[in-house]
Amino acid sequence: MEKIVSLCKRRGFIFPGSEIYGGLANTWDYGPYGVELKNNVKKLWWKYFVQDREDMVGVDASILMNPRVWEASGHITSFSDPLMDCKKCHERVRGDKLLEEKLGIEGVAGKSLKQISELVKTHKIQCPKCQAIDWTEARSFNLMFKTYQGVIEDAAAMVYLRPETAQGIFVNFKNVQQTTRKRLPFGIGQIGKAFRNEITPGNFTFRTREFEQMEIEYFVAEKDWKKIYDTWREEMNKFFVQELGFKKENMRWRQHDKEELSHYSKETWDVEYQFPFSWGELWGIAYRTDFDLKQHEKFSGEKLEYLDPETNEKLVPHCIEPTFGVDRTVLVALLEAYDEDSAGDEKRIVMRFPPKLAPVKAAILPLIKKEKLPEVARKMFENLKKHFVVEYDDSGSIGKRYRRHDELGTPFCFTVDFQTVEDETVTVRDRDSMKQERIKISDVSEFLKEKLGI
Ligand code: GAP
Repeated sequence: MEKIVSLCKRRGFIFPGSEIYGGLANTWDYGPYGVELKNNVKKLWWKYFVQDREDMVGVDASILMNPRVWEASGHITSFSDPLMDCKKCHERVRGDKLLEEKLGIEGVAGKSLKQISELVKTHKIQCPKCQAIDWTEARSFNLMFKTYQGVIEDAAAMVYLRPETAQGIFVNFKNVQQTTRKRLPFGIGQIGKAFRNEITPGNFTFRTREFEQMEIEYFVAEKDWKKIYDTWREEMNKFFVQELGFKKENMRWRQHDKEELSHYSKETWDVEYQFPFSWGELWGIAYRTDFDLKQHEKFSGEKLEYLDPETNEKLVPHCIEPTFGVDRTVLVALLEAYDEDSAGDEKRIVMRFPPKLAPVKAAILPLIKKEKLPEVARKMFENLKKHFVVEYDDSGSIGKRYRRHDELGTPFCFTVDFQTVEDETVTVRDRDSMKQERIKISDVSEFLKEKLGI
């Protein structure tokens, strides 16, 4: 993980947030190459799950919502973690996470605050910071960020930063269904920021307080839920392996047992990834039943029914929710891509991104900065940049430039050399094999299209 964090900073993928002010704990800013990578992940997701499917549409709802939404969704009463303080050094920790390291997730899931406090005592769990065994009782800590809307800071003006994007979909269910006239089963997808005041953020971008989600609420008739749920799990497998090109052996499915289930779910499975620190949740899928729509009917007074055009029957649809963390997916893309080998006598770091994920698709490099080479290379760059994310790079030795683009994961480097001026060919260097071949400048665009699958 340290190698990834260091490469991300060195090469402009991810920087510590507010760094010139000494940072702000556990905030991260995506740099020029990180934002390209992240946008590629989001674009692939949107295309695969929304645009390519006739049964899916998208929305982009507000982060700030009427606070009644969070009463209805159950987040005000149920969206909390067990907080414990070390009485000696005042370290604050999540009681369940303390126990998890000792007993595994199965030993902790769904335990009450009282049970957590007792188990921490029974197992004599030490403070990770000062090693004392002197804990406060576990107490409930709500994870929602609060702020105020408008100029008056009183309770009436209080709003929350959304802790999940899902509710922006549920509250728009009726608007979307009526305007698109979609019939069941159909789904609504959304990509956007979510905020949680996590007690123990950490592991780079794995757990942060501000993050992005890609969520789908897929509406079905109750009788069909199980069959459709299983097809969505298959779609998530496909997205992992085929679309993102991640290794199957680094992924596993884990079912939540009854005690671990969120208040809205009847069946949840997590897609876990083998992170360098441990297996951890990457994505999830929940069967949210008709819980959310029914709750919003109750709290808003609006009917959120669907009229079945064949049976003329009115029903409140049930919902299956495949959910994906953007930042965790980007982290996995970085981890999967990272590799070390050797180039001649030198050790080389190479990011083996699949070309469709790579932040830069190709670099255009004049061998030296004279004899018309920069002129030809610039012209090539100007043409290619209309269709691809490409970089013109003429500083430093050619070897150094190759090394830089290996670390950025640029799949192809086109080098303009002396022969180019004579016969309008360039060398193309393959990032993974480091092999070079000559192709005509006029074929470069087609070459890239074919390699990128576009
Ligand atoms: N609407 C359901 C929901 O929000 P979740 O499992 O709490 O479910 C969904 O979150 C996904 O969001 C997770 O699988 C994870 O990828 C991502 N996620 C959750 N909390 C996160 C955090 N603190 N930092 C980064 N990503 C997070």
